[in-house]
Amino acid sequence: MKHPATITTALLATCTMLLTACGGSNNSTTKTGSQGSTDPAVNAASTTSVSGAIPIGIAFAQTSNVALLGQEGVAGAKIAEKYFNDKGGVNGTPIKLVFQDTGGDEAGAINAFQALVNKDKVVGIVGPTLSQQAFGADPIAERAKVPVLGASNTAKGVPEIGDYVARVSAPVSIVAPNSIKAALKQNPNLKKVAVFYAQNDAFNRSETEIFQKTIKDQGLEIVTVQKFQTSDTDFQAQATNALNLKPDLIVISGLAADGGNLVRQLRELGYKGLIVAGNGLNTAKVFAVCQAQCDGVIIAQAYSPEYSGSVNKDFRTAYLKQFNEEPPQFSGQAFAAVQVYVEALKALDKKNKISKLPLNQLRTELNKQLLAGKYDTPLGEIAFTPVGDVIQKEFYVSTIKMDKDGKKGKFAIIK
Ligand code: ALA
Repeated sequence: MKHPATITTALLATCTMLLTACGGSNNSTTKTGSQGSTDPAVNAASTTSVSGAIPIGIAFAQTSNVALLGQEGVAGAKIAEKYFNDKGGVNGTPIKLVFQDTGGDEAGAINAFQALVNKDKVVGIVGPTLSQQAFGADPIAERAKVPVLGASNTAKGVPEIGDYVARVSAPVSIVAPNSIKAALKQNPNLKKVAVFYAQNDAFNRSETEIFQKTIKDQGLEIVTVQKFQTSDTDFQAQATNALNLKPDLIVISGLAADGGNLVRQLRELGYKGLIVAGNGLNTAKVFAVCQAQCDGVIIAQAYSPEYSGSVNKDFRTAYLKQFNEEPPQFSGQAFAAVQVYVEALKALDKKNKISKLPLNQLRTELNKQLLAGKYDTPLGEIAFTPVGDVIQKEFYVSTIKMDKDGKKGKFAIIK
């Protein structure tokens, strides 16, 4: 349970709806004052204040298959660093992003978090890339009382990891149903659905639950549920099993490399029906994996480059200039997470000069401040529920459009 300084009526209403997530406030043991960790080693490292540029930790996957998602986060965070420093940083003091590569697993994320907390002495962390990694690494930050903002973690239960854990990446429960509904709009005669999911990954298990519930709620029949691993490259057995049942919709929860290969192999085996893919395939990096066979895949989005807000226009222009392509969702979310830190630090600094605060107190005050704020980001206006989940208004659904030769593609908004 978190204790944001301000809880609006709207947030209280959200809390009422989310009784399990928000309950137990009387039992909470969280200190919201200036106390730091009870670990003496952490305390010794945390009692001096920040001098010079303000360090914010970025823990994304820059190596392994998960880098297909993590590198987009890195790109968005770097654009935010330059953008906000050009605008004067935190009331005249620049921010400095400190990058630690999480790799693709929990151990890598835990190492990255330990380095950011203890060695780099950051004021807060953005990351890690996967929810699977968040369940392993976020408790490190929680124990050290260092704020964490997830910028791609969408599994159920991430903000509930602790008082210092929040996210700007909207959860599967809100995002995933939109793509099934869009598929039904494209083909109202859909009946039989084959579901695939990566069973070794927390986010994919969470997403398939929501997909399967939505499929049933829409009156469709799940003819098979096929499981795979995010490390798999060969899906012939599962794809053949599913195609024998003649589905007219296939719904995939995987990550970019495995999910992209699955899409390709389904098409190579002759499947011509609709494919919905989840948030783990929501990256332009998937185009290189399934190439021309990516065409038509339907994916729900929590970000659109076309969103008309002024910060998004600036972000889109900067991204286009640097990469010559439209910014993807994970970049938009990483930008938004850095923005939340910058704006919360600015607000805090006005009340209480942050250069004078011991690091442990700064981290705690920053956590309270960021949960209380409202932010006009490339994702639209966002705020946080008391438990730290993002409150966001704008959502989209895209289809992947590939050029004939399968070399270039884009996400085209359909809703
Ligand atoms: N949305 C994916 C996750 O939460 C990347 O793991």
